[in-house]
Amino acid sequence: MLVSAKEMLEKAKAGHYAVGQFNINNLEWTKSILAVAQEMNSPVILGVSEGAGKYMTGYKTVVGMVNGMLEEMKITVPVALHLDHGSYEGCLKCIEAGFSSVMFDGSHYPIEENIAKTKELVAICNEKGLSLEAEVGSIGGEEDGVVGAGECADPNECKAIADLGVTMLAAGIGNIHGKYPENWKGLSFETLDAVQQQTGAMPLVLHGGTGIPEDMIKKAISLGVAKINVNTECQLSFAEATRKYIEAGKDLEGKGFDPRKLLAPGAEAIKETVREKITLFGSANRA
Ligand code: 13P
Repeated sequence: MLVSAKEMLEKAKAGHYAVGQFNINNLEWTKSILAVAQEMNSPVILGVSEGAGKYMTGYKTVVGMVNGMLEEMKITVPVALHLDHGSYEGCLKCIEAGFSSVMFDGSHYPIEENIAKTKELVAICNEKGLSLEAEVGSIGGEEDGVVGAGECADPNECKAIADLGVTMLAAGIGNIHGKYPENWKGLSFETLDAVQQQTGAMPLVLHGGTGIPEDMIKKAISLGVAKINVNTECQLSFAEATRKYIEAGKDLEGKGFDPRKLLAPGAEAIKETVREKITLFGSANRA
């Protein structure tokens, strides 16, 4: 059964480790992540962006697939199904479809509007026992080939949002989705420290987990980060393994073109990436 991310993240924050959110795009991704979480006895969060939800034909399909896998794969570790960077309407749709957790990304609104919309969602999620992630400050990323640096969160605004009763808070601290540029300045631990001082026990979320050096990940966890999102790294390992398979000509030999064979190396590569992250984040044997 899917669970809210609240308990696993509160335990993670208190225990000084982080739970990984791994984004899913299809059946192979989901199966690999669930298999490794179970193998390592780790709680896990499956992230679904609005785009990935659409690609998988809609949120109901995603809920049906994940619930089916939990049962058929006999998954016993805590698993949350979480909307990643949701709009207000997207959150309502996912709640309706059976997600156990949602992120409302109101960071592009003026803070008053972010507060008002987050507040409404807090009431809905509390009533249904779902976890809710909010965002303050923007997370950088690539748009039209240009990598934006994002904007560090204002710790007082973080407090205002945290006080609404959200479950976890994503604060921009110089982190970027996708690959980091050569001249990246690194995470702003000064901002993270100030945010944690303002928000107390609130589990903090680090987006853009791909490509952050290990020492920075560990430092972020020591300063209150209890959830770390990883997407691009799984995509890269999947693509690289698939490319190697095709270049080796295996897709053309015998039954190598069978999609179950063609996608197998990528699915194994994702497993390896997830194993590495669970080890680094320290969530193994915490289920
Ligand atoms: P990366 O793609 O950089 O790993 O970031 C994932 C993320 O933060 C999803 O919200």
